[in-house]
Amino acid sequence: MIKNVVDVALGDRSYKIYIGDRVLHGIAETIKEKCGSVRAALITNAKVWDYYGSQVVEALDVEGIGYELILVPDGEQAKSLSVAEKVYGELIEKGFERKDAIIALGGGVVGDLAGFVASTYERGIAYVQVPTTLLAQVDSSVGGKVAVNHPLGKNMIGTFYQPSLVYIDVATLSTLSERDYAGGMAEIIKYAFIKGEPLLSLLQERKDEIQARDVDVLSQIVMMSCSIKAEIVEADERDLGLRAVLNYGHTLGHAIESVSGYQYNHGEAVAIGMVFAAELSERLGLLEKKDVELHRRVIDMYGLPSSMNASSIDEFMKVMERDKKRSMGGHVFVLLDGVGNPVVRRVDDNDLIAALEAFLKEG
Ligand code: NAD
Ligand code: GLY
Repeated sequence: MIKNVVDVALGDRSYKIYIGDRVLHGIAETIKEKCGSVRAALITNAKVWDYYGSQVVEALDVEGIGYELILVPDGEQAKSLSVAEKVYGELIEKGFERKDAIIALGGGVVGDLAGFVASTYERGIAYVQVPTTLLAQVDSSVGGKVAVNHPLGKNMIGTFYQPSLVYIDVATLSTLSERDYAGGMAEIIKYAFIKGEPLLSLLQERKDEIQARDVDVLSQIVMMSCSIKAEIVEADERDLGLRAVLNYGHTLGHAIESVSGYQYNHGEAVAIGMVFAAELSERLGLLEKKDVELHRRVIDMYGLPSSMNASSIDEFMKVMERDKKRSMGGHVFVLLDGVGNPVVRRVDDNDLIAALEAFLKEG
């Protein structure tokens, strides 16, 4: 049953996020209602297809929506121009036109790739996000950032292109690996710290149910997270200001992913990055020590790392130097001026170095 619907109000690009438990059988009806009698290109990978393909296809058959399956490789390497080119080729060979639609069934990789293809194929074809990882359900499927990677940088080739609808079945999370589940939790913890209550209390009070992937509480936290993201995207769709707060914990997080050679995955690196951002906020007189401790407690609670050890800060600074160049001369951090009140600040080199040295020694 669909339990929650979140609106993303963006004028003529507005859409709804449907959230429920064991609802894949209803997907085609919703697609028909929102997109009309389209023909669909179903883009997914073999792993997700094995788990959930038959449910989606049965639903499409019942509603008489014709479809063609396009399988892409699993993993980040699928977010490339060469895979996109193969997908364009299949769409052309199978005769897809602008009036048809793409269904992206999978995690953030499938969603970003399929969304990018949708935004460029015949100058734009409708697409539906059906996210099946926790990260995709609370973050990547919402907000219209779609991209592929370039050998010189992640997400460098992309567009802003909103889906026609997002359809979330939290029951699909039952098959997700522990590590990918924890990675999604890191983004939910991020929303809790940038927005505050009631999500922050819910994460502390209902930890056991959340960790057991109870579908009722999952529907609730996915809905809250999507609402928080929707509100920010509505205020700053093109990422010109406020949307930057979604990068809380990401500045050091990206450096950790890169310096560790991706031994820390995105969620783990962001978790450590949030504790660092909280410490930096405290050092600059914005956040109380008890709130830094709260970061550590909540992050530990969900099996994510809250610190790391490194003998030198040089490599981290080098990676962050690249970001600094792109933001015209300052290290830009999302800090907290109290829990629930993110602020974007340029941080002085000396403050950053002192905070980073202390943080990486503690770990
Ligand atoms: P992913 O898509 O690689 O999925 C992780 C793994 O889980 C994959 O092996 C996938 O096949 C598998 N999987 C998917 N659903 C499953 C299920 N229900 N059960 C079992 N296994 C399942 O990774 P991700 O973490 O979902 O997404 C990461 C990507 O998202 C990155 O490329 C990142 O850049 C992007 N991203 C985009 C945005 C955005 O705003 N567009 C935001 C955050 C992240
Ligand atoms: N994941 C960050 C954003 O959507 O802006």
